[in-house]
Amino acid sequence: MMAGLGACGDGSPSTLDPEGPGANRIESLWWVLLVLGTVVFAAVAALIVISWRMQRREIAVNRFVLVGGVLLPAIVLGVVGVETVRSTNAVLGPAEGEPDIVVVGEQYWWRVTYPDAGVETANEVHIPAGRPVTLEVRSADVIHSFWVPQLAGKVDMIPGQPNRVVLEADRPGVYRGTCAEFCGAQHANMRFVAVAHEPSEYEAWLEARGEPPPPPAALERQGEAVFQEQACAGCHTVEGTPAQGEVGPNLTDVGGRQEIAAGLLENTHENLRSWISSPQQHKPGTLMPPTDLSEAELEALVAYLESLDPDDTDIDADADSS
Ligand code: CUA
Repeated sequence: MMAGLGACGDGSPSTLDPEGPGANRIESLWWVLLVLGTVVFAAVAALIVISWRMQRREIAVNRFVLVGGVLLPAIVLGVVGVETVRSTNAVLGPAEGEPDIVVVGEQYWWRVTYPDAGVETANEVHIPAGRPVTLEVRSADVIHSFWVPQLAGKVDMIPGQPNRVVLEADRPGVYRGTCAEFCGAQHANMRFVAVAHEPSEYEAWLEARGEPPPPPAALERQGEAVFQEQACAGCHTVEGTPAQGEVGPNLTDVGGRQEIAAGLLENTHENLRSWISSPQQHKPGTLMPPTDLSEAELEALVAYLESLDPDDTDIDADADSS
């Protein structure tokens, strides 16, 4: 369990608190728009006042319409348009080449794969800090939107239309992400975290994650039997075991995740028990069905899931204070 990460992600992440070049760019653009918008608003308000006072006087209407209605808007909108397109292209990154990570939005969670390493996880996007990482985002069902406010802009996940986004974090930390497009009953509970590591730690994480989990100890072995015999294995994969279900999140590293149910619950023993017993109570509309287990079976199953933590070296996210 990555105890060190537990406190993170509780605050509300803000685009005005950027932690990477993409988000910096968006923040700058936001300020440009705010200042320009304020100037235009003030000018128009002033003109309204002036026009009341000058009702009876003759003014050069033609020239005024030309300057105020054509020239100035063209300049303002031109500057905003060019800057917006430039920023968008910078944040979205190159369209060519293989992506480093593929994220698929599903109702209501995130499938995260590392094609080169053949690694799949869920609801956590691990990246190296200080370098740009290209993500391809897809959808398995309806339109979702992938958003890490402190690192990059929103990118729609559209069925049949892969999109790109570059994530780059200036420094290691844990950054809250969320679905930013209404996608159904549990849209609000479709969250994730982006975990930026020191590059060497990232490589270690990826390598550890690539290994199947070691054979479980006694209680965990009972739990594994429950997992394989009950409905779990039909929907979930645990690499290195017969469980190869593809419907729900890959659970090979679930013991190492901070949260379960896509950001809904902290990954604690009690929450795992409660979630497995009655997922519909926690998250109405989730595809996860309730399970009917004895107390002993549930306890063993939870012990087994908690043991699935290939990267047992707690990630050092102390740098993060957000
Ligand atoms: Cu997925 Cu909203």
